[in-house]
Amino acid sequence: MDATIRKYLLPLHRWIGCTIGLVIALMAATGASILYRPQLEPVLNRQLLTVPACINRVTLDVLTATAVAARPDATLDYIRLAVGDDTDTHMPAVAIRYTDQSFIYLDPCTGAVLGQRHRYGGLLGTLEQIHRFRFIDHGNLITGTSALVFVLVSILGGLYMWWPASSRSLKRAVRFNRRLVGQARTAALHKTVGLYASFILAASALSGLPLAFDWYKHGLYLIAGSPVPASPPKSRHAGMTRLPMETIWQRAQELVPMPREALLHYPHKPGDAVDMYLIAHDAPHANARTMLHLDAYTGKVLAFVPYAASSSGHKLYFWLLSWHTGRVGGVPAQFLMLMAALSVPVLAYTGIAGYLRRRRRAAMSPRLMVKVTAKRVEAQGICSFELSDARGRPLPPFTAGAHIDVYLRDGSLRQYSLCNNPRDTHRYLICVQREPKSRGGSRTLHDDVQQGHILEIGFPKNRFEVDAQARRSLLIAGGIGVAPILSMAEYLAGIGAEFTMHYCTRTKPRTAFIDRIRNASYANRVSFHFSDGPAEQLMDTAALLRNTPPDTHLYVCGPTGFMTVVIDIAKNLGWPDRQLHKEYFSAEVMKSDKDTSFEIKLASTGKVLQVAKDKTALQVLSECGIDVPRSCEKGVCGTCVTRVLEGEPDHRDMFLTEEERKQNGLFTPCCSRARSSMLVLDI
Ligand code: FES
Repeated sequence: MDATIRKYLLPLHRWIGCTIGLVIALMAATGASILYRPQLEPVLNRQLLTVPACINRVTLDVLTATAVAARPDATLDYIRLAVGDDTDTHMPAVAIRYTDQSFIYLDPCTGAVLGQRHRYGGLLGTLEQIHRFRFIDHGNLITGTSALVFVLVSILGGLYMWWPASSRSLKRAVRFNRRLVGQARTAALHKTVGLYASFILAASALSGLPLAFDWYKHGLYLIAGSPVPASPPKSRHAGMTRLPMETIWQRAQELVPMPREALLHYPHKPGDAVDMYLIAHDAPHANARTMLHLDAYTGKVLAFVPYAASSSGHKLYFWLLSWHTGRVGGVPAQFLMLMAALSVPVLAYTGIAGYLRRRRRAAMSPRLMVKVTAKRVEAQGICSFELSDARGRPLPPFTAGAHIDVYLRDGSLRQYSLCNNPRDTHRYLICVQREPKSRGGSRTLHDDVQQGHILEIGFPKNRFEVDAQARRSLLIAGGIGVAPILSMAEYLAGIGAEFTMHYCTRTKPRTAFIDRIRNASYANRVSFHFSDGPAEQLMDTAALLRNTPPDTHLYVCGPTGFMTVVIDIAKNLGWPDRQLHKEYFSAEVMKSDKDTSFEIKLASTGKVLQVAKDKTALQVLSECGIDVPRSCEKGVCGTCVTRVLEGEPDHRDMFLTEEERKQNGLFTPCCSRARSSMLVLDI
């Protein structure tokens, strides 16, 4: 995805989400009730909307006279009949609407008044009023505009930013990774829910737009190639006495026998016809309107368009209205729309919570925006990424052995050593090996991050410094552990220091930077050791460490087993601790059958949490909604380090120094446990 577009689209997506998204959340929550209104209304307002069934009904004119008598100063708008909903025991009431949008409900058997209610009265009416923003003037423009912007920016923009770079990542991206925790979990939830809900939400929003904008409605007719509906025809016998409404109604039923529903407008002016629509008993959906206009004086048909014969524009418009209110597709469609409506609060929560967390974290640890200026394959399964300041400024300086935090788009954080010369001020170079069991970091960088992309990174930190007092250095790298070692070699060569470097890998094709090293000024001080090569070129660690002058400092970085062997041999040969420098980049979390549960107490609230023997403190904290920054979750990176105020940790990490372990003031909740029954953490 184009980095410049993302740069502008992401803040827009956020701000639309935080403003218009809240309007949409309100519309979605209230819209869910409208979906089920046809089912809920007769239950909640049974006395008003249904009456005991009868055979002989009073005429519409009797009902009309009752409505006029009930409100002599009001003007009648239309009469609505739901004929087809009769059951053996009950039948629907007749509703007559006044022009001020109030309804009077009448018993069609006796003509008795059942009650009166405004269109937006009662619980469901109020929810519909909120949904349509009809509590303010021109509320339909607010809902229409919000829906349109929401679809264009939040839904289409969100999908555009979500779209993975490759088909392989596409398969992954459509699944929710349950193993994620904290910020990464929130971000993944936002994306996955957003992905699945977006299609229904977009369809709901777009299908409601004709209710808000005439231009949109006319556009639908245009798209369907149909003429926009003309004004209703006029009665041609003005001056005569109007026919009773019952006669008009009988005439309409001759044309559409036993309609499910009918709505007859009262004529007001002398030339007005009786305009009506009817929903035939075999209509394909609840808004499949058959349009009928009868002469109010003669009952003559002025216009009659059965739904089946109506224009494509008419069908499209009324189908969309039915879809918008959940009246097509039956229960499955209603359920899908309900799920989509409920997803909006989830999206609002995950979007806002994720954003606030990122802001909080960014405030605690300042970040840099960098551009990937080059991505190169350095060896089998290994890529390097060259990063430069996004605005072209010099980058903060770093020292050999430093690493940076890389914040990935899914909200997770990974740490990578810098492998270029610390003299470089315009770039950082990181080297990433695709991990077969990747939790997302190396896979995302390999598959999704390309040249030109913008990344967020932290300032360089260093816990693997070169000792400035050392007279000689011995650098040993295993596999991808070459990254900080290479930076050290370039630094030491640059200052003219005495050093040698040994670089062990499994095979030559899996050896990163081989050409760079062979062409370097210090190439004659580097020895390569390939596990699949001749025995004489393998590294004899014991001999190497035994024959190195005693004031040499050893720097080693590589897989855990490799490092353990080198460090153990050095210690056995009597190398003092202060001359041993190491940096782990992976480890297996130490587990034991003897592990027991323990308690952690949060100093800020006094809350005590139980850490079961098969869980880590970090997992328990996450389950309680406490977001502790994390990266490796194996005790290597130090991202999760937390202060201990009381208690004795059982250190299982590779990050803390011997001195720090002895002091018991720090704890890595991703892997370490407790020797005491409780640890009081500074959280
Ligand atoms: Fe890396 Fe805990 S997350 S040490």
